[in-house]
Amino acid sequence: MTRVVYVNGRYLPYADANVHVEDRGFQFADSVYEVIEIAAGGTVDATRHLDRLQRSLSELSIQEPMSRSALCNVLAQVIRRNRVTDGLVYMQVSRGTAPRDFPFTGKSLTPTLVCLARSLSVSARDARASRGIRVVTMPDIRWARCDIKTVMLLPAILAKEKALSAGADEAWLIDGQGFVTEGASSNAWIVNADDNLQTRDLSNALLPGVTRATTVDMAAATGRRIVFEPFSIEQAMAAREAFTTSASGTIMPVVAIDGKPIGSGRPGPVATSLRRTFHNFAERRSAC
Ligand code: PDD
Repeated sequence: MTRVVYVNGRYLPYADANVHVEDRGFQFADSVYEVIEIAAGGTVDATRHLDRLQRSLSELSIQEPMSRSALCNVLAQVIRRNRVTDGLVYMQVSRGTAPRDFPFTGKSLTPTLVCLARSLSVSARDARASRGIRVVTMPDIRWARCDIKTVMLLPAILAKEKALSAGADEAWLIDGQGFVTEGASSNAWIVNADDNLQTRDLSNALLPGVTRATTVDMAAATGRRIVFEPFSIEQAMAAREAFTTSASGTIMPVVAIDGKPIGSGRPGPVATSLRRTFHNFAERRSAC
């Protein structure tokens, strides 16, 4: 449960934490965010997440709300005040508040910063990983700058809803050529017929996942080859294994795609082993 939320310089009780009705994040989704995992009381891969936040802001010409060291201090406070040992810290930066008007140039806008932290059950997540998750595929209807982590998440929300109502856990989004771009809130991977890891190369079509980047480093360190190429639904269905990467799930084995079992229909050895070593490999800090 979140008890305390940071909003624009103040630590407020959850029920009292508000932003203005004319915040551009609320009216236009003119806002970016990050989610960092907290494990054993510290952050996981915070440097990469904060680098990506900086890039998202810069791509949209949104002002940085404060220095990185000040933001790290806020994150540490939010984690401590919410007594989170294992969970997530969420931060969102909008362009600010102004009377509703599309353009932003020439307006004196102060970015809105919100940070909150909440605990998650490690055992529930581990149980999910040992069962493996089920994904369903659907068309990718998002915009052409999915490399920027904006709160413009309606396509992801609808995809997740559709996946859940189909009895699955995640949606894999398919581009116009029949290739998987990524999950609704995760990056998509397979272990292909040649026993190599395969994940789509980075572009504007997908989020450059932090967990993806660390998994790439981890695979390289163990000498496992990675093919950076898109894969089709058919290739995914014929794969030895499939899995997703995200801050909230780390590495999650996929056991079925559109109802068809992948490999043995159980979490595969490669994904399971990557998952086991992930936290030893990722950057761990007391805050960031
Ligand atoms: N999801 N792709 C999309 C569209 C996402 O929303 C996310 C993150 C990822 C994985 O990125 P990372 O490894 O940096 O978390 C890929 C949310 C924040 C999550 O579930 O963690």
